[in-house]
Amino acid sequence: MTEKGKLRSAGWLERQDMAGFVARGWLKNQGHPEQMFAGKPVIGICNTWSDLNPCNASLRILAEQVKRGVYEAGGFPLEFPVTSMGETLMKPTTMLYRNLASMDVEETLRANPLDGVVLLTGCDKTTPACLMGACSVDLPTIALTSGPMLNGKFRGRDIGSGTDVYRFTAELRAGSMTQTEYLEAEGSISRSEGHCMTMGTASTMACMVESLGLTLPSGAAIPAADSRRRRLGHLVGNRIVEMVREDLRLSKVLTRSAFENAIKVNAAIGGSTNFVIHLLAIAGRVGVPLSLDDFDRLGSQLPLLVNLMPSGKYLMEDFFYAGGLPALIEELKGHLDLRALTVTGASIGENTKGAQCYNREVIASADRPFKETAGIAVLRGNLCPDGAIIKPSAASPQLMKHRGRAVVFADIEDYKARIDDPQLDVDESCVLVLKGIGPRGFPGMPEAGKFNLPKKLLEKGVRDMVCISDGRMSGTAYGTIVLHVVPEAAVGGPLALVQEGDFIELDVAARRLHLEVADAELERRRRAWTPPSPRVERGYARLYIDHVLQADRGADLDFLVGGSGSEVYREYR
Ligand code: FES
Repeated sequence: MTEKGKLRSAGWLERQDMAGFVARGWLKNQGHPEQMFAGKPVIGICNTWSDLNPCNASLRILAEQVKRGVYEAGGFPLEFPVTSMGETLMKPTTMLYRNLASMDVEETLRANPLDGVVLLTGCDKTTPACLMGACSVDLPTIALTSGPMLNGKFRGRDIGSGTDVYRFTAELRAGSMTQTEYLEAEGSISRSEGHCMTMGTASTMACMVESLGLTLPSGAAIPAADSRRRRLGHLVGNRIVEMVREDLRLSKVLTRSAFENAIKVNAAIGGSTNFVIHLLAIAGRVGVPLSLDDFDRLGSQLPLLVNLMPSGKYLMEDFFYAGGLPALIEELKGHLDLRALTVTGASIGENTKGAQCYNREVIASADRPFKETAGIAVLRGNLCPDGAIIKPSAASPQLMKHRGRAVVFADIEDYKARIDDPQLDVDESCVLVLKGIGPRGFPGMPEAGKFNLPKKLLEKGVRDMVCISDGRMSGTAYGTIVLHVVPEAAVGGPLALVQEGDFIELDVAARRLHLEVADAELERRRRAWTPPSPRVERGYARLYIDHVLQADRGADLDFLVGGSGSEVYREYR
């Protein structure tokens, strides 16, 4: 709605001049009759469906369901494609393109006669990208994710995306799994449409959307293949039309309370570390102050209430049957601001009141949690002056306090060349350090922070070591992995100065990451350090390198922080 109570789309579709003639006339070539242009809210269906993104394959069908709901509620749905990013195919890393996709969403929303928008997302980056773009425009917005795949099944047991891929790969490298078994597992893991069904990044993003109040209750966990997701699509279509009439914009839902709730829910579900970087970027777009320390302060003392891989045993399908996010929120209600408004028009507390848990092996009660504390720990120290993160619930308890000799890799190519070298001077007490995989350095901050351990140690039975990098890790990964070191090596952060043989101390309880090198020696190394030349000279990647912010600011582009609203800044017709 505009300030005068008129639909925004009226500026295109209700004009009685040449601009109106052109806008309506050309839409009519798709069979839309005149009555569609008489004051109906126009709903954009922003679709990240793509053959190149298997996790979002079901969104084509879901878009049709949303359209039915929009028509039924008296709206006019118009579907449009935006840049999609599939984790399994895209190189060098989808994170490089998250900000590009957000620009695509932002500019498309602002440029077109849309009164409200449904964001159809799924695979990891598609959800934050769409939300970031939508936040910068601030229309009435509701998100609908593709839903998780059904549980993987392999030789009589359930297997989870990502988590078991890492496990199988380690077994294959250690010689305890054959290539034939590995291939059989490959064919058993993705049994249906949908995104990864562990509590990886996609499921974490889906839970983030629901805990922020941006989708209908239960939207996070209904499996993609379950007809209840299609029915949810229809209801989303109904609701977005009402939201336009109520002028319920994103900024009314995305308050500081909503962000705090999302951080707490993420802790209780054992959500992905990628949640941190994406939530920071979304907050930056909508203008809500949020810092790295908020994640530790609000989340790290909360209990783990969900028993899902990679922190636990079960998968999203089980989570849904156990009651899904509404049941989890009901358990966590003592920690949440239940007054936070959601897209239903009711508060999150009203939406989830009385939600029941049907399986205590999957969702614990608040007084009998799976772990007393979960969440993300934020580390500080001379190795990460502006912070680094670790996910304690996915780490090895015996490594949470550890001192070890650094084995250092200058970049991913150096790592690949030497990690399996039998001559590599490494044992299980060492700390593996990988530089150059940060936002600017790679560029794009890939999920290379969970790296394969040296083959010779895997063969000895070693399954975890302290790993430190300026990169990210997959939400499905596990291990004692320190990530998002800020400042990154490529901008001259202390990580750039670590040398082979230095000693590093990690103390998660004390939130400390310390490089045992004297300040004077670090200063000498700093003076001798020269910045690496950019890996890319042109195009979007060059723009990204020149403008990307560090991980503690969500790795957004500096000129995209904030928003410009929905007004078109200039017209020529
Ligand atoms: Fe798309 Fe995991 S690869 S959600």
